[in-house]
Amino acid sequence: MSTNKPVVVYGVSGYTGRLVCEYLRELNVPFIAAGRDKTRVQEVIDKVPGIENVQHDVVEVEHEVGALTELFTGAKVVSNMVGPFIKHGPEVVEASLAAGCHYVDTTGEQDWVLDAKSRWGDTFAEKGLLLSPGVAQMYTTGEIAANICLESPGLDTLDILVLWKGFPTYASTQTIFTILKADWFYLEQNEYKQWEPGTTFEVVIPGQHETGLALPWGGTCHPVWFKDDPRVANCKAAGGVFDRTVMEGVVATQKLVEEQIKTLPLDQQEAALAEVASSVQAGMPPRENPRVNTSLDSVYASGPLGRAHCVIHGNQNYKQTGLLQAYAAYSLLQQPPKRAGFASACQAFGHRELLGTLRSFGLVMEPILTVHK
Ligand SMILES: NC(=O)c1ccc[n+]([C@@H]2O[C@H](COP(=O)([O-])OP(=O)(O)OC[C@H]3O[C@@H](n4cnc5c(N)ncnc54)[C@H](OP(=O)(O)O)[C@@H]3O)[C@@H](O)[C@H]2O)c1
Repeated sequence: MSTNKPVVVYGVSGYTGRLVCEYLRELNVPFIAAGRDKTRVQEVIDKVPGIENVQHDVVEVEHEVGALTELFTGAKVVSNMVGPFIKHGPEVVEASLAAGCHYVDTTGEQDWVLDAKSRWGDTFAEKGLLLSPGVAQMYTTGEIAANICLESPGLDTLDILVLWKGFPTYASTQTIFTILKADWFYLEQNEYKQWEPGTTFEVVIPGQHETGLALPWGGTCHPVWFKDDPRVANCKAAGGVFDRTVMEGVVATQKLVEEQIKTLPLDQQEAALAEVASSVQAGMPPRENPRVNTSLDSVYASGPLGRAHCVIHGNQNYKQTGLLQAYAAYSLLQQPPKRAGFASACQAFGHRELLGTLRSFGLVMEPILTVHK
């Protein structure tokens, strides 16, 4: 089967896939809603108000390169929500490449971003296709803040914080636990350096008096995105949720992983982690509420003779993610990415354009920027 719809959203039965479809509807982009179970995908699509106003098909597909390639053939963009991506991503990237599609996903997994870049970056570039894992609130909104700081030349060091308030979905929880088994890196003088396991940060949270507890959160995508950026030599990122008690639980789990799971044979580690993750989160979280589900991205950029600080207060990080994915597809249907091959959202679409999109849908405030030179 070859499709006449330009965008395939894969993993629509999940929390984020549905939101991507909602924003594609608002941007008036026809799409295929795909997943491994047609009934579940259809149930989700049927709940989207006004979905009848946008052309769309609902398709069941097996998670296998051949079947996915067949589904993607004829489309231009694949928007993938089936994570953890280190586990489920390779088949979807291979199929996107075989079908000649741009590939975007919502990962926050540094190990997947590194893997995707090294395995497929050059081939996507040769074909003029975009390979952009990580078009999502974690960490595109912070990347926007970093790029606003970097509009002042002469700053080479990024100190990044991302926090959000809410309930992780099933796949997000699986992902949080999956990254515990990876090595995590930051950037120092353009080289990757590994975080010590167990590293935590007591962070000052802009806009409140209480401090917070944050972690390197798998290293985040930032060190990889800024690795070959001539403006940036050093990049460290910390992240987590606002709720300190939840973060203390994550720290305790991380200790358990170091002591009891990383000591298991490799082939048993994944199943053991998935089991712990499932015991933490099994159901679908409630739909986000802007009064509850806030986000904060804060970036200090510094250089020998200059400093900048950018804070972006936002809300509903899953909605931000859905919109960023939909906008990426909308943009790619109209013009080539600013950079082909492996590229971050800001490198592919421009940070000011992405900020404008999030602003126009009421998901982030105007950034608060202070610059000293
Ligand atoms: N970085 C960010 O800011 C950010 C934001 C949002 C999401 N994410 C990431 O995006 C991913 C999806 O999140 P979500 O919130 O949508 O999670 P979710 O609600 O749990 O949905 C996961 C989706 O993946 C599908 N799936 C799972 N295993 C599969 C398999 N083996 N084969 C085919 N399909 C499979 C599920 O299908 P079934 O319904 O059939 O099980 C479902 O459609 C996660 O990795 C999450 O961490 C990141």
